[in-house]
Amino acid sequence: MSIQTITVIGAGTMGNGIAHVSAQHGFTVTLCDVSQAALDKAMKTITGNLDRQVKKEAITEDEKNATLARITTQTSLEEAARAADLVIEAASERLEIKQQIFATLDAVCKPDAILASNTSSISITLLAGGTKRADKFIGMHFFNPVPVMKLCEIIRGLATSDETYTTVKDMAEKLSKVPVEVQDYPGFISNRILMPMINEAVYCVMEGIASIEDIDTVMKLGMAHPMGPLTLADFIGLDVCLSIMEVLHDGLGDTKYRPCPLLRKMVAAGQLGRKSGKGFYAY
Ligand code: CAA
Repeated sequence: MSIQTITVIGAGTMGNGIAHVSAQHGFTVTLCDVSQAALDKAMKTITGNLDRQVKKEAITEDEKNATLARITTQTSLEEAARAADLVIEAASERLEIKQQIFATLDAVCKPDAILASNTSSISITLLAGGTKRADKFIGMHFFNPVPVMKLCEIIRGLATSDETYTTVKDMAEKLSKVPVEVQDYPGFISNRILMPMINEAVYCVMEGIASIEDIDTVMKLGMAHPMGPLTLADFIGLDVCLSIMEVLHDGLGDTKYRPCPLLRKMVAAGQLGRKSGKGFYAY
């Protein structure tokens, strides 16, 4: 099957990034969100990020305008999904919300449409199980900022067909991403490795081993990470980090995945990182 029309559900950071990259690579995109204000904000963000690419001479002004012309916005999930060859869901990381969205998509999408989730931690097999097309269900896990990060983890649920996998892998390559095939286990590969590292960095803060800045400096200058783990935790959101650690802890049952008590305390205090104005650093 050849993908031409893509619907992206959720106009947040990940959704607008996926819409941006898909439109930039020639796909017709519908960006859908329940909130018109969120859609307006997303279009502003996409325009700003395209302007940045024009300034860097990565794309021309004409390419920017053509990209924007390929994106339409829609508040009705039913309307947004009807014509899609592929739907990429990037809504809130809450199981009930995603299950509800996929039930609607399964009912209104074309029979051969592929359903994908950008979830960073929820089981693809579980989400697929709520639809009548588990063979056409897959995970497409992008990374923030989507226009910059080259990786797309492609997660195969237990019933994902080879045809669906190949179609989605080819599509990720058309977006100039590097797809990596991953089986459906908690945290996939990215968060199975990244989150325990971040969690351990939080333990280092809690135990007073070094200052926040120095812990980040060790990983930046010693391991050439672009951001230290505590800066990255603030960038991702401490609530997201905690919820992924819970998924690893519950799903794998090993105490090595227990969330650091300081991480829990900061989330309880509403110190969620960049989005709340305070995390390990102040913004
Ligand atoms: N859209 C388009 N381009 C962007 C952009 C955006 N939103 N944000 C940054 N850029 C571009 C810049 O224009 C710049 O381009 P050039 O290289 O052509 O000059 C380049 O990206 C670097 O940006 P900056 O110079 O502004 O800043 P930087 O060098 O500090 O890089 C960064 C910023 C790319 C975010 C870098 O710090 C980085 O790679 N950080 C790590 C990010 C990371 O780990 N992301 C994954 C998070 S985990 C996740 O998303 C999934 C999950 O499940 C939790």
